[in-house]
Amino acid sequence: MGAEDLPLTPDFNTYAMHPHIEAVGCDDGTVEIRWDDGHEGRFHFLWLRDTCPCPHCINPVTREQILDISTVAADVHPVSVDLDGVGVLSVMWSDSNHVSRYHPGWLRAHCYSNGEQSAHHAPHIITWEASFAAQMPTFDGPGVLEDDDTLYEWLIALREFGLTRLESVPTEALMIERVAARIGTVRETNFGRLFDVCSKPDPDSNAYTPLELLPHTDLPTRELQPGIQMLHCLTNTARGGKSVMVDGFYLADVLRREYPEHFEVLTRVPLGYHNRAKTTDYRWRAPMLSLDATGQITEVRPGMLLRAPLDVPFEEVESVYAALQTFYRLIRDDVYRAVFPIKSGDVLAFDNRRVLHGREAYNPTSGERHLKGCYLDRDELLSRIRVLQRKLSVRDCMPGWG
Ligand code: OGA
Ligand code: ZN
Ligand code: ZN
Repeated sequence: MGAEDLPLTPDFNTYAMHPHIEAVGCDDGTVEIRWDDGHEGRFHFLWLRDTCPCPHCINPVTREQILDISTVAADVHPVSVDLDGVGVLSVMWSDSNHVSRYHPGWLRAHCYSNGEQSAHHAPHIITWEASFAAQMPTFDGPGVLEDDDTLYEWLIALREFGLTRLESVPTEALMIERVAARIGTVRETNFGRLFDVCSKPDPDSNAYTPLELLPHTDLPTRELQPGIQMLHCLTNTARGGKSVMVDGFYLADVLRREYPEHFEVLTRVPLGYHNRAKTTDYRWRAPMLSLDATGQITEVRPGMLLRAPLDVPFEEVESVYAALQTFYRLIRDDVYRAVFPIKSGDVLAFDNRRVLHGREAYNPTSGERHLKGCYLDRDELLSRIRVLQRKLSVRDCMPGWG
């Protein structure tokens, strides 16, 4: 028996045939499955009908769904449930004797009955404080450009720590675009597809002056802050200008633990962020800290340079300022700030919705400092990781949302 006997899966991943399905049965609105390693799962009838991978329900070319679940009777149920000779689950349904065949490895990977679905949702992350400056995951730039294994290691580190460094990236003006292309599509903004960070005569951002930049996220003025930022150091001979990075997720957890009342305010009250440039007018309102449904922190939006005058209910002003001042003091605290020099050929890649980046002031008459930057969205990083996992046959990483 060959792969042609196996049903398609509703995606482009590959799934192992082991463990085998040992037994199937129906009970209380679900199909019960036992695999030969002892794992048991229960799948609701509608769930199975919804995920039928047959060519009437899923387009085998795009693997997108054709079936409209609203056209299926709510009480749809199996007429028969069988295991065929290759170990595939076969269900004949009460609606027009429709037959669905399910790959056992796909079913196992999508099993949701033992609390596994929460594991499908949790990307693994590691938070850090000041000492991270000396331990930052660092990769060889040319290796990342040429070799998929190195690329994969880099991207996993970027997802996990939110901050990584590449070294020896050739200091050519457009090289950062080639690095970005290893991940995905660049996100263009009003600052350009690529932007130059250096002192400019008529700056439209404090970044383009020699001033200190307090740790911040870029573009908090947008509904979606760019998920990934890369800064490529082309030249740095100026005195000062060390990079200052802070893990916003770590800070948010400190706030949650030590100042729960301030944490509550910053996760609930929308604050305004606005851009003050001469030719653009971007604005957004959002709480400074965002949580997912399980209470995990997903995004920080400290604002710093771009916070708008407070526009919250009168009774909230004092508690918002108390929370803001506490959070900003944490951002300034040396315990949390990873400070390190950036040298020519370095690329700093970081999660701009998690890690705050800044720099010390520098002396523009002492030398030249020129970085080239670009943005991508988090989706590009996560998509590239998943596609590399397919190619490198990484097991046990799918079908998570991380
Ligand atoms: C920026 C920025 C940091 C630096 O351009 O947004 O924060 O090191 N630059 O100059
Ligand atoms: Zn079908
Ligand atoms: Zn910035």
